[in-house]
Amino acid sequence: MSNVKGKVVAITGASSGIGEAAARLLAHHGAHVVLGARRTDRLEKLASALNGEGGSAVYQSLNVAHLDQMESFIDLAVSQFGRIDVMLNNAGVMPLSPLEALKVGEWNRMIDVNIRGVLHGIAAGLPVMQKQGFGQFINIASIGAYEVSPTAAVYCATKHAVRAISEGLRQEVGSGIRVTQISPGVTDSELADSISDDTARQVMKEYRRISIPATSIAHAILYAIEQPPEVDVNEIIIRPTASSV
Ligand SMILES: NC(=O)c1ccc[n+]([C@@H]2O[C@H](COP(=O)([O-])OP(=O)(O)OC[C@H]3O[C@@H](n4cnc5c(N)ncnc54)[C@H](OP(=O)(O)O)[C@@H]3O)[C@@H](O)[C@H]2O)c1
Repeated sequence: MSNVKGKVVAITGASSGIGEAAARLLAHHGAHVVLGARRTDRLEKLASALNGEGGSAVYQSLNVAHLDQMESFIDLAVSQFGRIDVMLNNAGVMPLSPLEALKVGEWNRMIDVNIRGVLHGIAAGLPVMQKQGFGQFINIASIGAYEVSPTAAVYCATKHAVRAISEGLRQEVGSGIRVTQISPGVTDSELADSISDDTARQVMKEYRRISIPATSIAHAILYAIEQPPEVDVNEIIIRPTASSV
């Protein structure tokens, strides 16, 4: 039997794409899932579907850019289920554009969600895990954590940061707490919908032609969680087989 059964998994960005797919897969394996995102109508539907199928899900409105909301999200997990086994820092945004377009507001949004959001997840989750003596952070980075391409400078910078933060956290926390970074290549989701720049939108249309389903990433998340406590899967990169980038 999978040792995911009974684990408490908090998922940021659970309202679509990879977060939603992970919630479904983990709930089907018996995890208690705690769902956070801003679109609570979606979370409500997802939680009620999972609970209706015999799963265990609760949800709360969450903007990861605000530390107090992240703390309250972790409080929900602990008050409902008594502990937190996994913090899945998944929420992210990708409004790509060339730097010369000077979309400073979009740069800041990526920094707030993709970097601060992950740091807030650590700030809220780490004290709980340290007190428990166990836990796991799974941070969703990207192949953009390893490379840079035109229109993606800021997005890639945020994902390089997630990679650095994950590795630093792994080195610092030591025994009992596992740290996993999962880096997807092009995956079906709503991620590219927020691109406001015409050039970047066209580039992405072609770039995202070959993709894998969000469940492929959910399976990698499941794999990392279900390893025995002494095994810490640190990095996974998953691309479409046909991808040349
Ligand atoms: N899809 C890909 O090709 C790909 C490739 C590499 C990495 N990734 C990474 O995978 C992660 C998940 O993205 P996805 O592909 O599943 O895209 P998605 O379908 O757009 O999902 C993004 C999720 O993040 C949430 N989110 C955005 N801003 C938020 C905020 N301020 N506070 C809380 N939640 C927020 C969204 O929920 P609300 O809007 O309801 O808040 C949504 O649930 C991201 O970190 C992304 O960078 C994706």
